[in-house]
Amino acid sequence: MSNVRGEFSSRFGFIMAAAGSAVGLGNIWGFPTQTASNGGAAFVLVYLVLAFCLAYPALMAELVIGRHGQANAVSSLRKLTNTAWQSKLAFVVGFGGIICAGLILSFYAIVAGWMFSATLEPIAEVASMTQTQSWLADSSMSRNIVFTAAFIALTVLIISKGVENGIEKWSKRLMPALIGILFSLIAYVLTQEGAVEGLKVYLVPDFSSVLNPQLLVDALGQAFFSLSLGTSVMIIYGSYISKKENLVSLGAMVTLIDVFIAFVAGLLIIPAMYVAQAQGVEIFAADGSLLNEDTLVFQVLPALFDSMGSIGLLVSFAFFALMSIAALTSSISMLEAPVSYAVERFALGRVQATWIIGTLVTAVSFTILVNIETLFGFTVSLTTKFGQPLLGMLCCVFVGWIWHRAKLLKEIESGCPEVGSSFFWKVWPWYIRFVCPIAIAAVFLNSL
Ligand code: PHE
Repeated sequence: MSNVRGEFSSRFGFIMAAAGSAVGLGNIWGFPTQTASNGGAAFVLVYLVLAFCLAYPALMAELVIGRHGQANAVSSLRKLTNTAWQSKLAFVVGFGGIICAGLILSFYAIVAGWMFSATLEPIAEVASMTQTQSWLADSSMSRNIVFTAAFIALTVLIISKGVENGIEKWSKRLMPALIGILFSLIAYVLTQEGAVEGLKVYLVPDFSSVLNPQLLVDALGQAFFSLSLGTSVMIIYGSYISKKENLVSLGAMVTLIDVFIAFVAGLLIIPAMYVAQAQGVEIFAADGSLLNEDTLVFQVLPALFDSMGSIGLLVSFAFFALMSIAALTSSISMLEAPVSYAVERFALGRVQATWIIGTLVTAVSFTILVNIETLFGFTVSLTTKFGQPLLGMLCCVFVGWIWHRAKLLKEIESGCPEVGSSFFWKVWPWYIRFVCPIAIAAVFLNSL
């Protein structure tokens, strides 16, 4: 480690970690499902525009706040302030983000637990462990509790090892594995009957629905969730970037990878829906809407895997392993946000802080599990519909209105001296001051 706080050891390491945070269930499950329920290619188009024009500038705001602050989210935001009320606001935004990250982790771990058990199920089948297999397949409370806890425990183990030996090391291994599995699955699905029809729905937009308000709200929410914005996560990851790195291009790389993986996951899931339909699985209601929006992945894919014969077991294992990996590189970032704060604010050891917060998150997770009908949807909406856009917008306000413009430029110029005369610098500060806050507020108000 290059200093006491910990730092990513290389450019590649940072990109894998930040892209690992961004690429998750949101890309492989959320994005294709949203695309399917918002009419296909029009959603893809709007999503691409919003991701690059609104989410990327907002991501840059969070990264630059962190790199400048070299500290947890609350302290980093406080370093930009001059007055007492600004400092209070910094606490609200930084701490709010940390709480948001913890709450997201608590529902994310439940879904990731389903992925874990689905990964093990084909193994149990091959080993002819019939009882275990049916336990793994049934969504019982005992199974869900075991796998949610196992997922959080794994997250805790990685985070307790720190930045370089935990986050960076594991992201560098897991992310390339994920990309390899994803492409192999696409190659298979595209050879199946029905896939071409799915490709058309995915790629040929119906322009008349592009300005549909619900579609805009969904696309913006999806983009914020996917880039992990408004959760203090990108602030803390930014704080581990060396001053020698070019932030503008790092942020752009992370956005590109995130959008690319979502797009590619759509190439898998949407054609897979049509393949499954060709095989007799009911996917759409009579009016063309999705029958089971929340469980698309669990409905469409297992049917597809079953139809493949014995190789289906292997493919099923590969797919759910892929989901679990994607979930894990995201969940470690969610846990890092509160842990880094606890370590710096209360002078706790990293291992101690990680276990304490891991235990708290597990308790919240179990509470959600036990009251899944009421609390699951509530927590998802609270964090992703309200918390993330609002806090992400306030980070833009910090950079655009509270921080001194010359100091901001100086921070970005570190590692990228020519930035002052670049296109980025001509456009971005206006985006952060006006376009992002207004656009996010408009979309947000619309969703109320
Ligand atoms: N970006 C992750 C995904 O797409 C989720 C996430 C949200 C991660 C917030 C960290 C913080 O699945």
